[in-house]
Amino acid sequence: MNSTQQTETYLTGITTTGTPHLGNYVGAIRPAIRSSQEADHKAYYFLADLHALIKCQDPQLVHQSTREIAATWLALGLNTDNVVFYRQSDIPEIPQLAWFLSCVAAKGLLNRAHAYKDGVQRNLDEGQDPDYGITMGLFSYPVLMAADILMFNATRVPVGRDQIQHLEMARDMAQRFNYLFGEHFVLPEAVVDDNVAVLQGLDGRKMSKSYGNTIPLFLEEKPLRKSINKIKTNLLEPGEPKDPDTSTVFQIWQAFASAEQTADMRREFENGIAWGEAKKRLFELVNDELMEARQRYNELLATPDYIEEVLKSGAERAREYSAPFFDQLKKAVGIAPLA
Ligand code: TRP
Repeated sequence: MNSTQQTETYLTGITTTGTPHLGNYVGAIRPAIRSSQEADHKAYYFLADLHALIKCQDPQLVHQSTREIAATWLALGLNTDNVVFYRQSDIPEIPQLAWFLSCVAAKGLLNRAHAYKDGVQRNLDEGQDPDYGITMGLFSYPVLMAADILMFNATRVPVGRDQIQHLEMARDMAQRFNYLFGEHFVLPEAVVDDNVAVLQGLDGRKMSKSYGNTIPLFLEEKPLRKSINKIKTNLLEPGEPKDPDTSTVFQIWQAFASAEQTADMRREFENGIAWGEAKKRLFELVNDELMEARQRYNELLATPDYIEEVLKSGAERAREYSAPFFDQLKKAVGIAPLA
């Protein structure tokens, strides 16, 4: 272990809307869990349930999704000794810090946030008032996210490309706060891994809840087989050579297979493997990787008390850092006992 590794703090959040799918698994969950198993840096992973409220005002769904996502990460072997795993809403200092940051964040900066700007643009395109349907939650989204990150002085933040702007904004708010009140925050950096696969969905576009083309991660065997059978293919017959590089079946195969299995399948495609057969093998490959975790997932969903306990103890560990740090920040801005 070298000294830079020891001083890095990794942090990432998972918004609790929806059920995890294979794309989430390959692109974010699997790499994060693997990295949790190597205890060479401090790490915080959390369920961003306060963020969920921005997109989702269905209490049932927020609650259910929090349970499913927590169960997913635990079932897949997240090492909660190495990673502090908690629920954002269990850390009262986070929304309080978000307020402090709101008071230093320039409105003009937040005007430029993609999610907000897209909302305004959609309204204008539709001839609506620019503010139509836009909440302060959406507008302040990057402030809450900055609070998540700065609360633990995270240095490295693994995120998707779409989140890079939010990291820049977090740095901006940190600098502004430091300039006004002293050096409290380190400047976080986005970590974008270009090597992780962006999985294609049933229709060949990027697998995404908003396209309705996902394969949920922990489907039972039968529905998983069915779902894989729905992956769009062309009309080539068995025996006709097929192009692996334009095939979603092959693309998903590659995300689960070893290099050798991938090379074998490439040959099978060139030799004209039938689509039905390729899908059958894909089902087996995916099912083999997920089978045990699915079993644990179902057990966990049936024991929410256990999940709750894990999250509560994660929150306790998180607050060992956030509570004293936030006291320090309060003092810095002039909020302190009078005597
Ligand atoms: N906004 C992130 C997303 O949608 C989730 C998130 C919330 C997050 N807070 C965070 C990610 C802090 C990294 C750090 O993907």
